[in-house]
Amino acid sequence: MIDRRSFLDWLLGGTVFAGLAAILYPAARYLEPQEIPEAAISSLKVGTIEDFPLDSGTIFKFGRKPGLLIHDADGKFRAFHATCTHLSCVVQYRKDMGAIYCACHNGRFDINGKNISGPPPRPLEEFDVHLKGNEVYVSLRG
Ligand code: FES
Repeated sequence: MIDRRSFLDWLLGGTVFAGLAAILYPAARYLEPQEIPEAAISSLKVGTIEDFPLDSGTIFKFGRKPGLLIHDADGKFRAFHATCTHLSCVVQYRKDMGAIYCACHNGRFDINGKNISGPPPRPLEEFDVHLKGNEVYVSLRG
């Protein structure tokens, strides 16, 4: 048989536990980083032809990753994942070099994305580029 004092101790302990749980659980959920699912995209409009001068390179975001769109001096578009194949720095188009350059370790790629000097072990991954009217789209190769 439970006496009154034991019952009150048990009730008080349960109330304190429930109160702490009601405070700590939402705080823990708030502090825990949430997983945000990345929207799967396979194609992206990056702009119009007029947005990209001849012999220029433009960084764009493809989902969470950077891409590099090159509008070469002949008017042809090329697009690459802008992540260096060495240690994943973001590459850039260097008009003065006529090449894609990685400033982290002096890596170079030609405008076709082929690794030509420095430590990058592989070519850059390439996107497909499509024009619809004067709009420029990039899409995953597949
Ligand atoms: S990360 Fe690009 S050359 Fe090292």
